[in-house]
Amino acid sequence: MEQIVNPQLKGHTGIGHTRWATHGAPTDDNAHPHANANGRIAIVHNGIIENYVSLRKYLEHLGVTFKSDTDTEVLVQLIGRFYKGDLEQAVRRALHDVAGTYGITVICADEPDVIVAARKGSPLIIGVGQGEHVIASDASAILAHTSQVVYLEDGEIARVTPSEFRLTTLEAIPVNREVEEVEWSLDQIELAGYEHFMQKEIFEQPTAMENCLRGRIDLEEGQVRLGGLVDCTRELIRTKRFILTACGTAWHSALVGEYLFEEIIRIPTEVEYASEFRYRNPIVEEGTTVIAVSQSGETTDTQAALREAKQRGALVLGVVNVVGSTIARETDAGVYLHVGPEIGVASTKAFTGQVAVLALMACYLGRRKHMSVASSTLFLTALSRIPDQMRETLKGADQAKEVAARFHQCENWLYLGRGFNYPLALEGALKLKEISYIHAEGLPAAEMKHGPIALITEGMPVVFIATAGSQYEKIMSNVEEVRSRGGSIIAIATEGDREIARHADHVIFVPDTIEPLQPLLASIPLQLIAYHAAVLRGCNVDKPRNLAKSVTVE
Ligand code: G6P
Repeated sequence: MEQIVNPQLKGHTGIGHTRWATHGAPTDDNAHPHANANGRIAIVHNGIIENYVSLRKYLEHLGVTFKSDTDTEVLVQLIGRFYKGDLEQAVRRALHDVAGTYGITVICADEPDVIVAARKGSPLIIGVGQGEHVIASDASAILAHTSQVVYLEDGEIARVTPSEFRLTTLEAIPVNREVEEVEWSLDQIELAGYEHFMQKEIFEQPTAMENCLRGRIDLEEGQVRLGGLVDCTRELIRTKRFILTACGTAWHSALVGEYLFEEIIRIPTEVEYASEFRYRNPIVEEGTTVIAVSQSGETTDTQAALREAKQRGALVLGVVNVVGSTIARETDAGVYLHVGPEIGVASTKAFTGQVAVLALMACYLGRRKHMSVASSTLFLTALSRIPDQMRETLKGADQAKEVAARFHQCENWLYLGRGFNYPLALEGALKLKEISYIHAEGLPAAEMKHGPIALITEGMPVVFIATAGSQYEKIMSNVEEVRSRGGSIIAIATEGDREIARHADHVIFVPDTIEPLQPLLASIPLQLIAYHAAVLRGCNVDKPRNLAKSVTVE
């Protein structure tokens, strides 16, 4: 949270919002807060008022003039029309006329101690302090003030003063909600000597992975312990089809999950973009389990996909990082990542955390179906070595920096991988796009010859995730195809591979592990290449343009 230092500002009640533009360009006029006609009521709003066009016409007909192009201003003008001395009542009345999603806070000059907040579809929490309350959309924003929080549910309104808060539904029915403790601490959301949160989060991965795996692996029995799945284990074992649904980076970890589930549990698994799943009338037969993968637990499309699946009778699970988030609360069961808060917009430790949790889930179920103790012990031994191997991988961080230094001015990159490393090619390309604004494409390596090979010109950087395993020979053929067309080869390879240096311009080695777990290590150099390229290009690493950490609009 940026601190506002302005001696002109007086008072003890305030609202603010970093806008992610949906309606109207990012200009001062469209910036929040917005005010009603007489300027006495102000609002900040996250979400979209879908019927704003008709409401605006109606209000204009009544003589209201608008100062912005936003949907938000329509809502505050409406609240102003209904205001008769009680802000909470006016907000409640106005929300009855509104279609869409919102997380709002509203203040009124005539009730200087009061903030009214309401939620539908966009996250909101109340932080309970000593003689003060703070309202935010994310726990990390208020941790500096308090770790005691109350989560609002959809369709609820809160009336908050410094000394108390009151929750009701839109229909004015009182709601009792317990105050909960946020498990994250303040030092976890500070830079701790790093230049950027993304850099900190990349380097935190060994510890984050230890926290994620802690208490969950029983090597002697070859068993996985996942408390969150205990109540639905029988139903899970009877699952006939898994659908993993997610957005962005979480979609890439879900794709690794598909490979892991099919390889280890041997149950058909597919991965769906949440935004597509929710609107395409999906087939959810009996025996389908839908798993939503989300760092924030608040992504609107993922939430909506989950609700769609639930309505159609699926068992719904969450693989979520933020404890108490909407997805975590709305699923039947789930597994938390426990990798700590992720602040940088580009997801890093949450990606490896998601892959690790999906690996644990695969083994949890695989072992209960057909996996022998010996093979699950082998798998879990490899998994428990990952934190130390991540430490080893990070020792080679300078190699990624060299790659970035040599190629950061190139505007087109390709990332290629096969098998478990194919989703990693997509993720490596996404990382580069997100924070350094370089165009990059990720592909299954064999697909290159069906079109993208036409792009390869002299010196174009092509990143191969070419770790040891069943696809090594195949990917080496793809390396040759690129090399013979003049492309510059950057290879992520397994330590001890003596052959690869003869084919690649740059090699970054990662420690050896079993094939299904290679994405956990090979992702690190990809994250570092993107990070250093962004730094060298002078980009805002933690807050890239046009992107948001948690996308709470459709
Ligand atoms: C945004 C973020 C991505 C993230 C995606 C899904 O686009 O910028 O980093 O992967 O949302 O977020 P989730 O919180 O659901 O994992």
